Amino acid sequence: MAGQGNRRGLTFPIFGFAMVLGVVATIVLVRNGRTADVEPETPAPALVAASGRQAHRDACGDCHVAYAPYFLPADSWRAMGDALPEHFGVRLHLPVTKQGLVLAWLRSNAADAGHSLMGAEVMARVAPTDRPLRVTATRWFRHRHLMISRSTWALPVVATPANCPACHHDAAQGIFDERSVHIPG
Ligand code: HEC
Ligand code: HEC
Repeated sequence: MAGQGNRRGLTFPIFGFAMVLGVVATIVLVRNGRTADVEPETPAPALVAASGRQAHRDACGDCHVAYAPYFLPADSWRAMGDALPEHFGVRLHLPVTKQGLVLAWLRSNAADAGHSLMGAEVMARVAPTDRPLRVTATRWFRHRHLMISRSTWALPVVATPANCPACHHDAAQGIFDERSVHIPG
């Protein structure tokens, strides 16, 4: 009698403990799955600095030049990230960790991050209420390209002002100086 009582006394706590563990594990799994779906985690700053540039080139340089972060303010990059997978009429699916890394790198090197002269030039023409979603929609871009005629923008080799390499042959390397500019036509 005494032995039976002991066994029952042990079985219930162990069973109960296993149940609690199961419930906790399920909650953790479900929560992780859900947060990973909606919101890419922000990686540590050191990781962003070390591998952000390369990740940006890989993820953002296939369809157009990988636009440098200092051409847009951090809020613009954030808005672009929030809109994904919708991306200017195409669907852009990136692995969650890569998306988090690229966007963190873009934001920390944005026009208003204070790391570049070009960024300061861009910000000088961004009004407080502006949140341009395109480099080509910034007042800085329009101002800097005022000398280009309508007929040049309309050339098939240019196609869109977003096509920087049509005129800036070293745009992929981030070089835009006078010597590397050639207006087609
Ligand atoms: C699957 C192709 C594709 C990939 C990959 C891609 N984009 Fe784009 N992107 C587009 C298209 C299409 C446009 C619209 C081009 C136009 O209107 O001339 C665009 C436009 C843009 C513009 C606005 C250009 C302008 O007019 O100033 C920015 C900024 C931009 N993309 C950033 C990114 C970033 C950042 C990434 C990587 C996370 C990325 N893109 C990856 C297809 C792509
Ligand atoms: C149709 C040709 C054309 C296109 C397309 C074009 N640009 Fe330009 N860009 C020019 C010309 C011309 C200048 C003036 C060069 C000068 O001042 O000597 C210029 C100037 C610039 C400058 C200033 C360079 C400096 O040394 O101060 C930057 C930066 C720049 N462009 C970036 C871009 C970016 C980014 C894109 C794409 C989103 C782009 N451009 C698309 C023709 C173009």
